[in-house]
Amino acid sequence: MGLKVMITGGSGQVGSELVKSLLGNDRIEDVSAPSSEELSLSSRESVFDSVGLMRPDWIIHIGAWTQVDACEDNPEKAFLVNGLGTRFVVQAAEQVGSRVCYLSTDYVFDGTSRRPYREWDQVGPRTVYGASKLAGEMETRPSDLIVRTSWVMGVFGQNMAKTLIRLARAGGTHRFVKDQIGTPTIVSDLVSSLTELFLEGHSGIFHISNSGQTSWYEVARFVFEKLGEDPERILPISTSELSGYKAPRPMYSVLDNCALRGSGLDDLPAWQDSLAGLIAKLAGAD
Ligand SMILES: NC(=O)c1ccc[n+]([C@@H]2O[C@H](COP(=O)([O-])OP(=O)(O)OC[C@H]3O[C@@H](n4cnc5c(N)ncnc54)[C@H](OP(=O)(O)O)[C@@H]3O)[C@@H](O)[C@H]2O)c1
Repeated sequence: MGLKVMITGGSGQVGSELVKSLLGNDRIEDVSAPSSEELSLSSRESVFDSVGLMRPDWIIHIGAWTQVDACEDNPEKAFLVNGLGTRFVVQAAEQVGSRVCYLSTDYVFDGTSRRPYREWDQVGPRTVYGASKLAGEMETRPSDLIVRTSWVMGVFGQNMAKTLIRLARAGGTHRFVKDQIGTPTIVSDLVSSLTELFLEGHSGIFHISNSGQTSWYEVARFVFEKLGEDPERILPISTSELSGYKAPRPMYSVLDNCALRGSGLDDLPAWQDSLAGLIAKLAGAD
């Protein structure tokens, strides 16, 4: 008998690709991805109804309010959806015997580290979004799985890879920050690593991001080069020159996939290799 898997946030950037991938996995018998109307994270009743109906073996809890700047203006909603919503998911899981895999973020850290963050490093979010996602982590049980990732880009939804393709074609010069350091994570890599973790029954906190580290400036130049555009059209700026962002971005949010490697699982490919593949796919699809 295969596993029954329920996904929250199945219409989002990560969720769409996860649903597609799990539907083709022969170890999984049933995949359900209720919409945000069918399973509203801000309603305990709605979460309990959906989970009670399916009684999944695993709930991959990806649904979240992800608008980082908007969260600063509405902490009530951020904590309701990301924190309390996760409590509802975990309580509903407890009632029917499901395990939960919760997708979290590099924003739980304060961004002041000088080396990649390990799973056991002190958290200290500097944004409402980060604090609300950490609140979600705090709602999980020791038997659940928490996966933290960073700078996500994939085929579905809006992301920096798609923005860069649009800017490359629009012409002109574009300014990107050179002093924020992190690691792009390509959704297809994230999905296969996360799937391996939950299928093998792992629990606890895991960091999953592609290997290496870089700045948004370098990412932008890399994408322009891959598209055959002049990378000199990308100009460096510093965070202090940026305006218009309510939520401070972490200056350093590289994640060390320490638990993944230590558990004998494959580390993720270099960000350049996976981003090159994504850009080829996205640019070819236009
Ligand atoms: N994107 C990144 O760079 C990044 C980095 C680190 C971690 N993460 C985490 O990864 C996860 C997936 O991110 P993503 O980029 O795929 O996000 P996304 O594209 O914004 O998708 C969010 C999903 O959550 C659903 N959702 C939002 N509010 C909801 C509510 N009240 N009730 C039920 N569902 C709700 C959305 O449904 P509707 O479309 O119907 O609203 C959508 O399916 C999130 O948990 C995020 O915190 C993302």
